[in-house]
Amino acid sequence: MNSPEMTDNDFLGFYRRATEAGDQWWRVTIGDRPHTYRIEQGIGDTAGDIDLVVDAENLRAKLKKWHREGFVADAPSAEREGSADARVAFLGELARASANYRRHHGDDDGRSDGVRLPATVRIGTIEIPCGGGHALVPRINPAYLFSPRFDDIVLDIVENKRVMLIGHTGAGKTSFIEQVAARARYGVLRSNMNGQTTAGDFVGFWTVKGGETIWVDGVLPTAMREGLWLIVDEIDFAEPSILAALTAVLEPQGRLVLKEKGHEIVEPHPDFRLFATANAVGAMSRFRHLYQGANLMNEAFLDRWRVYRIDYLSPEEEADVLVRTLAPHMTRPLAGTLATIAAECRAAFLREDLSSAFSTRRLIDWAELMLRTGDPERAAEPAIYAKVAPEDAAFIRAIVRHHIDPGS
Ligand SMILES: Nc1ncnc2c1ncn2[C@@H]1O[C@H](COP(=O)(O)OP(=O)(O)O)[C@@H](O)[C@H]1O
Ligand SMILES: [Mg+2]
Repeated sequence: MNSPEMTDNDFLGFYRRATEAGDQWWRVTIGDRPHTYRIEQGIGDTAGDIDLVVDAENLRAKLKKWHREGFVADAPSAEREGSADARVAFLGELARASANYRRHHGDDDGRSDGVRLPATVRIGTIEIPCGGGHALVPRINPAYLFSPRFDDIVLDIVENKRVMLIGHTGAGKTSFIEQVAARARYGVLRSNMNGQTTAGDFVGFWTVKGGETIWVDGVLPTAMREGLWLIVDEIDFAEPSILAALTAVLEPQGRLVLKEKGHEIVEPHPDFRLFATANAVGAMSRFRHLYQGANLMNEAFLDRWRVYRIDYLSPEEEADVLVRTLAPHMTRPLAGTLATIAAECRAAFLREDLSSAFSTRRLIDWAELMLRTGDPERAAEPAIYAKVAPEDAAFIRAIVRHHIDPGS
């Protein structure tokens, strides 16, 4: 019954009831990941089929069910004192306290190989406390460039402020948040509002599974409970019901009330962070004609956020990213020329001479293919020209030819 790595400290409780076949039991231990509990079932000395990992809320529901079914806690007498509820409240609290403790002592790294990771990480000039690790921690992009302009945003993240990043498409709004999370080891959930995201996906819904009606948390309560970072991408396309759910959570320590689930209250985990991105709100409103269908966001709503404008990297910074991403093959002079071409395409986009934006992602992809083929025009076909309208392709080709003489 004991797994080899199990210690007494992991043991939380044993719940029994007598049956004709012998003592039926449930056993609860601390899960491998923060805020999770493992529950196993069996009869007498034989383990049963059930061996699963649940969160605190799920465990609480199980304890209530076992209580109804006549299971009795078989724990040290001191523990027998309080009610099952009080015990679970204590354990939830302890799991948080313990995750915090281990984080500050640098030995909860979300991995099992015993490598000690630092308790904080420096991004720009700001020290940010590290999370406990999660399956949803994004992968680090070592070539990612944190401009000094980003320091204020990182400080807001440390201070648990709600942050909205506005800027043109491909400027690096989403990847900035992901790269901070990657370095500080927080899991990230993204929810794009410019698509089929419904209030059900966002908040949660009831469904029938195996004859039972169960509630499925949407991304918002999931992120709040598990201490994930939630990015509400393209918030200017969100449905009013989603904005209404968000509004409550925008207050510091704001709680979510799941009306559909009997007004259950979801408290934010201390690691939970909320971000939004948008193209054409606030200071970016004058570019609304470039982003069809975006809703205007009222100032009262915007006032609940710290709103930062993210511009494209400067040509120098972008050349730097190219060199770092495609090291050791990409040279400074090549990167400088490519960054200049990207900057000119973006200026044309803002003048409406071009209808497609030119993201850093597109530039990197073009440069990579150019290194492989040795031919900028051939590389531009799949990386740029095939993705845009023929007039745009012709316009970009002229800019490219202006900077790269095909005969040279
Ligand atoms: N500061 C940066 N350093 C390195 N790469 C960047 C940077 N900013 C943006 N990029 C690149 O540009 C791509 C597009 O950025 P993204 O975050 O998706 O833009 P947005 O969310 O603003 O549309 C990213 O995948 C990344 O490769
Ligand atoms: Mg994005």
